[in-house]
Amino acid sequence: MRNQWNPGNPFPWYQEMLASHPVWRDEEGSVHVFGYDNVSTVLSDYHRFSSNFGGDDDLHHPISQSLIATDPPRHRALRALVSQGFTPKTITKLRPRIQEIASELVDAMAEPSSDIIAALAYPLPVIVIAELLGVPAEDREQFKRWSDAMVSGVREAEQSQSVQAGAAQVADPQREMAQYFLEMIEWRRKHPGQDLISDLLRATLEGEHLTSGELLGFCVLLLVAGNETTTNLIGNAVDTLMDHPEAFHQGPHAPEEWGPLIEEVLRFRSPVQSMYRICRVPTQLGGVELAPKDPLVAWIGAANHDPSQFKDPEEFLPNRAPNRHIAFGHGVHFCLGAPLARLEASIGLATLYTRFPNLVRANGDPPRPVPSSIVYGKEWLPASLR
Ligand code: HEM
Repeated sequence: MRNQWNPGNPFPWYQEMLASHPVWRDEEGSVHVFGYDNVSTVLSDYHRFSSNFGGDDDLHHPISQSLIATDPPRHRALRALVSQGFTPKTITKLRPRIQEIASELVDAMAEPSSDIIAALAYPLPVIVIAELLGVPAEDREQFKRWSDAMVSGVREAEQSQSVQAGAAQVADPQREMAQYFLEMIEWRRKHPGQDLISDLLRATLEGEHLTSGELLGFCVLLLVAGNETTTNLIGNAVDTLMDHPEAFHQGPHAPEEWGPLIEEVLRFRSPVQSMYRICRVPTQLGGVELAPKDPLVAWIGAANHDPSQFKDPEEFLPNRAPNRHIAFGHGVHFCLGAPLARLEASIGLATLYTRFPNLVRANGDPPRPVPSSIVYGKEWLPASLR
């Protein structure tokens, strides 16, 4: 059943699984969950389904020390601490700078055609995160290389089904990056500034501070969780609008008018298609018996196409209401970066379409899908700008 998977178009497979096997155990023992209600339950019921997927080496697996891989009660304390540095107010303050970066990137796009990913969707979130963390301008190229190496390593592991293959690719860049951040954290401890790392070093909860390992895990998590996801949100929006040009021509212009369309892109082409959990206790889901340590895959992409929750789920309806998609997750791990992702996408898209209102799909080679079952997007998305 899994061999019907197609990274460029997983949606027919989801409909088939939703209808025939809404909870399904594969040949290797992983349990796949497709329906909206069950996916929401798996993501949020931490008593039964843990986010702690192991690894306790700070340098090789900094993310294992971060909140995305931690269950309550520790998760609650970590999230409260990092939320102090990552407030909606901090994000709103970034608006003028995000606009400046987006304008520079769009101005540099050369007519008659351009790859939307390389020109805008990829650099925008990387530059924003680097600036937020206070990475000096001269280190940015290096920073981008680490971020790329980590993402391609994760893909390598996914494709070869071998964690070791991916880990070998990732280990060195990850180690280098970890070392870099640890030095930066120690430097900021002595020379606090106006950046996120300094804010996080100042954050306290009942007298408790984040440890260097936790802070490191959070920095790396921001890179991994915040970059490719936002790239894909912007890319998926442009890709979808190429198929539905009327949605733009009748619709949004200023950044604040893009909200409903972006929510529908998040549902229709969710940048994160699946998340993992580990079963903690003997339990049952949709008629399937689960034992402790059973791995689960919660298919967010399928839940967002579940006809029991969304009328005409295969239709792109830019003003869909209600639209209770779970593209940013559900429950205690709900995406901390959702306001930032929404802001970057609205500014990036408004800037792009104001400058190039006649943007259409370029003739010639079709766009190239990201080869992944975790993230959904395009690696290469050529557009004709005239
Ligand atoms: C469109 C873009 C994005 C999507 C679709 C997305 C999706 C998600 C999802 C599905 C989760 C839940 C994971 C789980 O339940 O295990 C999550 C968590 C998280 N995201 Fe995002 N994300 C996006 C952008 C960002 C950005 C820009 C940042 C930060 C710069 C970010 C930071 C985080 C963090 C820190 C968590 C962990 C929260 C926790 O465990 O409490 N994300 N994201």
